[in-house]
Amino acid sequence: MNDFIFHNPAKVYFGKNQLEHLPEELAAFGTKVLMVYGGGSIKKSGLYDKVRGLLESAGMELFELAGVEPNPRHTTANRGAAICRQNGIDVVLAVGGGSAIDCAKGVAAASKTADGDVWPLVAGGAWVTDALPVAVVLTNAATGSEMDAWSVISNMDVNQKIGLGGSALIPRVAFENPEHSYTLPAYQTACGAFDIFNHVLDNYYLAGDATFDLVLEMQEAVMRTVVKWTPVALEEPQNYEARANLMWASSMALNTVLDAGTVHGCACHMMEHELSAYYDITHGHGLAILAPRWLEYILDDGTASAIYRLGIAVFGVEEGLSPEEGARRAIERVSSFAFETLGLEGTLTELGIDEAHFQDMARHACGGGRIPGLRSLGAEDVERIYRMCL
Ligand code: NZQ
Ligand code: ZN
Repeated sequence: MNDFIFHNPAKVYFGKNQLEHLPEELAAFGTKVLMVYGGGSIKKSGLYDKVRGLLESAGMELFELAGVEPNPRHTTANRGAAICRQNGIDVVLAVGGGSAIDCAKGVAAASKTADGDVWPLVAGGAWVTDALPVAVVLTNAATGSEMDAWSVISNMDVNQKIGLGGSALIPRVAFENPEHSYTLPAYQTACGAFDIFNHVLDNYYLAGDATFDLVLEMQEAVMRTVVKWTPVALEEPQNYEARANLMWASSMALNTVLDAGTVHGCACHMMEHELSAYYDITHGHGLAILAPRWLEYILDDGTASAIYRLGIAVFGVEEGLSPEEGARRAIERVSSFAFETLGLEGTLTELGIDEAHFQDMARHACGGGRIPGLRSLGAEDVERIYRMCL
């Protein structure tokens, strides 16, 4: 277990009747608000009108950046930054899922640069300490962006999808009403759920042996929650308890509570971001295809007990097996969760992806070194894992 600092200043209003506090929270930053949202789901659900109505009644001046893509592009963030700079925006409000939030963070960071371009920050690996304040109304339980310091931005011209981090990117306030996720299509519910599950799995003690019992137990509780409640949300999209459990699990998975004392590995995420960068696929689906193959690939004497523990604690695999047999059962359960319970297609081939770019993708995923973990991965390992997914 390593020494650690825990500091997460995001203020969260969770529940059904909290949105009325939005105007007073935003007023702390000023009156000019840039609302950032995606392709129109919030208009269909009525959330757009609700947010607009609340802010206009409070005398706020609203500007808009609409049409944020899933896998948000740097060019869209730059458009938002231009609006901020031209109009003296005080706060950037994301209304949506991870893509709207990440784009809002990109806007907030780029607004403070000399040329309003987010890409040099992203590509340069900057740690952002100066940005406009970001606020969130969350509609999708998935990425954890509502409480974390990260924004994942894509530049499709160069096939790169990279995380931009910074203390200034942590949302100052987030509104999490599980009812706002009732309208999520089953596919997005499934992909979001696997994303939450995988944020924890990537940081489970497979990420490295520096951990401690309380954190492991909490990690397992979050993964168990996803496994328990996602089928309920798929069956009954308006089940409040299911949506609430998933939404808080999303926030808990990446708000650094589960990082305490550990090394945050990102094996599946590093591999998946390359898939999205080259093929623009849905992030959680890429993770679902990769995770069981990754576990299979890293299974050896050094990792078997950890994988078996996951099987026992999260999927109820029976105790008393050999570590290898137990680990194999655990991997089967991860696969059946992804491909049977969630109903996601199980191969890259089904998503129209072949091996054409695997070599380059594997090199990028490793960033010129190795992906750390209880079993670290070099480019040749990553390429083999991609091939196992075909
Ligand atoms: O664009 P709209 O019309 O809003 O529709 C979205 C989009 O089509 C729809 N949707 C969201 N909430 C809805 C809804 N439809 C109906 N009802 C609702 N309540 O769902 C689709 C996907 O939305 P998106 O925001 O793209 O999904 P998600 O929340 O999974 O975000 C994915 C992005 O976040 C990044 C991913 O890589 C990807 O780019 N990530 C961000 C992280 C972070 N900031 O820490 C970490 C993650 O690992 C991840 O990389
Ligand atoms: Zn993720």
